[in-house]
Amino acid sequence: MAPVVSGFSKLSKSDKINWLIEHHFNNDQNTVDILKTYWNSDKKLQQLHDEFTENTISNYYLPFSVAPNFLINDKRFTIPMAIEESSVVAAASKAAKFWQNRGGFKAEVLSTVKVGQVHFTYTGDNKKLKTFFESTKASLIASASHITKNMEKRGGGVLDIELRDKSSEIENYYQLHCTFNTVDAMGANFINSCLEQFADYLMKSAITYDDFTDEEKDIEIIMSILSNYVPECLVKAYVSCPIKDLPDVGALSSLQYAEKFVRAVQIAKIEPYRAVTHNKGIMNGIDAVVLATGNDFRAIEAGAHAYASKDGKYTSLTDATIENDVFSFSIQLPLALGTVGGLTTLHPLVKLALHLLENPNAKKLMEITAVAGLAQNFAAINSLITTGIQQGHMKMHLMNILNQFQATNEEKEQLVEYFKTNTVTHSEVVYQIEKLRG
Ligand code: MEV
Repeated sequence: MAPVVSGFSKLSKSDKINWLIEHHFNNDQNTVDILKTYWNSDKKLQQLHDEFTENTISNYYLPFSVAPNFLINDKRFTIPMAIEESSVVAAASKAAKFWQNRGGFKAEVLSTVKVGQVHFTYTGDNKKLKTFFESTKASLIASASHITKNMEKRGGGVLDIELRDKSSEIENYYQLHCTFNTVDAMGANFINSCLEQFADYLMKSAITYDDFTDEEKDIEIIMSILSNYVPECLVKAYVSCPIKDLPDVGALSSLQYAEKFVRAVQIAKIEPYRAVTHNKGIMNGIDAVVLATGNDFRAIEAGAHAYASKDGKYTSLTDATIENDVFSFSIQLPLALGTVGGLTTLHPLVKLALHLLENPNAKKLMEITAVAGLAQNFAAINSLITTGIQQGHMKMHLMNILNQFQATNEEKEQLVEYFKTNTVTHSEVVYQIEKLRG
């Protein structure tokens, strides 16, 4: 077991590595070499990455890919995706190609409201608290003007503050439920700064409020923090086409295909075990765009899954219908994304990704990202109800297996050719490699 270390963050990068290899890797120099292989030779760029977080010792690469041919609201996009899972980008590209000849994807932002809360306790008459809040609300909002003035210039700011009485659930517990428009910023720092200001002002104003007893003056702030649950920061994306334009695959006619597709979505609507995997597939597409564009995928994940259970039961984020011989497929979910601030101007690849998308504002990025999720879900269901998922998945995974066995380029070429017409399974790939190598 490694010893307790203090002041680790203050050590130089090479001393951190020395400590690691001494205590965790038996002084193996190969470990140092691996870490250094991933250092960038451009010292400035490396320093930038080192300074993103604490205790950085190397860089962790993910493939940065692109999925072309996305027609969204009649405009063509090539979507950047950062993801390691072999089949995701191929699936997105395939869905994009399929829908570009059927009117493309449509998308619209339904709302852009972000949320933050000040959680506090107040002991006393709740009617008096309400009166106090109402008389203080305007100055409470104004107290943050030094933080909000730039956001207001850009068209955003504080939308409202509500006092919420939660004392029936936890004794003496209340909230300031605050809503914000953060325009093109994800806005976490802006929201948290406003909330901390509101908390401070609330606490101090209570002390000088004459109608409060001493006990009532003593408001205790528990915490002030934004919420990643943003059901009012919603985007919708959809596709539709006449049933006759859907594929007739194998034994399935176009109508049977549409019906089977709708049935698959219905299953995800009512069965949480399926819904979680169904939504995971959606998030394959969404997270990849969120990461490539420098946004916070954990926030997006948390918000999306919470939204999927907003009615008390976890369900599908997509919907599919057949009406008047038309097949429609849609997604609706919250996406609190930003295109300014954070990593967007710092990380060169993020800048490049945003450039590729023609420097979208936050709303446009919400639309593009929702489309990536819908496309991913379309591709997954298409495979699931026709060939099964493994055929495409294993084809894309083939290269990983070959790399695992350190196949040479020549071996790769021969085996990729062989598996164009043969089913990829792990054991079959191993067998074929061994056969090639005699
Ligand atoms: C795999 O990463 C994602 C899928 O399982 C999604 C789904 O089942 O819908 C293929």
